Amino acid sequence: MVPASRTSALLEDRHGRFHDYLRISLTDACNLRCRYCMPEEDMHFLSRDRLMTMEEIDLLAGMFVAHGVRKIRLTGGEPLVRKDAGEIIRRLGRHPVELALTTNGVLLDRFLPDLRAAGLRSVNISLDSLDPAVNQDITRRSHLPVVLSHIRQMAGEGFRVKVNMVVMKGVNEFEIPDFVALARDLPLHIRFIEFMPFEGNGWTAGRVVTYRQILEVIGDRYPMEKLQDGPNDTARAYRVPGFAGTFAVISTMSEPFCQTCNRLRLTADGKLKNCLFSTGETDLLGPLRSGLTVEPLIAATIKAKHARFGGQWDQSFEAIDATGLENRPMIAIGG
Ligand code: 5AD
Ligand code: SF4
Repeated sequence: MVPASRTSALLEDRHGRFHDYLRISLTDACNLRCRYCMPEEDMHFLSRDRLMTMEEIDLLAGMFVAHGVRKIRLTGGEPLVRKDAGEIIRRLGRHPVELALTTNGVLLDRFLPDLRAAGLRSVNISLDSLDPAVNQDITRRSHLPVVLSHIRQMAGEGFRVKVNMVVMKGVNEFEIPDFVALARDLPLHIRFIEFMPFEGNGWTAGRVVTYRQILEVIGDRYPMEKLQDGPNDTARAYRVPGFAGTFAVISTMSEPFCQTCNRLRLTADGKLKNCLFSTGETDLLGPLRSGLTVEPLIAATIKAKHARFGGQWDQSFEAIDATGLENRPMIAIGG
């Protein structure tokens, strides 16, 4: 990571958290239809004129970087379905940041030259099942072989590859050991993500498989040792002795990490969210297009950040009533 520099107070909130990590969604469109990510009913994707252009993305990114952002992750929907994704990646590669990408992996091979040119070294690839039927049921598409081959290819090409699996009770929880086994011979970083509630994704507390439960399942099959986590890591990392890669659990629901959160999110239509679960969002694109200064808007949005979960719940996750939550669907946020 680029060395820390709290260059301005703009990115600090009332709880003393400095936000040096910006996630930018390039589009809310996707070539998959994951059930846990988008509503069952027809999704209406943003029309092109409402998306930030490459120049606007670059301009806003530069502003955040000037105030101390050190890491930018590109997300979606699926960022690589955007026609100018390659150019955007190259453009953002010019900023002094660690650049990363979260993708479903389907189109990844086409972007290798862009990733290299931008100095991007780290990709997170979403993959929720190794079973073709289950994978197809979750994604409502059948790209499993392609995604698996791209995972191997990227690791072979020397990229740092994280594989994100959203664990859902009764759906793919049986595959936890198989995912750990992916890291036996390949230097992959498997990340089990607790299922989170978003609009229209059928979340109930009963469908969450917790950090502790995931560890128990793995512990029954493999010896493991804890690895040291970074100060802002959301993943709790472990290693099976002798394996080339590692695994980790993202325990958003059962053991949240809001206290050390350093993330901001910019949606594809240029709205700033101060939390994954924030009810509100601040339009930066409209004011930017009208020639206004957006820094005060950024500062105010960050100052308004709640201590936990966008202020939407404070109790343990078992007590959450998802019908009472207010948010965009995940596909329109980007994780
Ligand atoms: N719960 C947990 N993780 C989710 N993701 C998408 N929707 C959910 C959800 N409801 C994951 C994606 C991707 C990352 C950005 O967020 O699988 O890997
Ligand atoms: Fe697309 Fe990713 Fe959402 Fe699946 S999780 S629908 S791959 S954006």
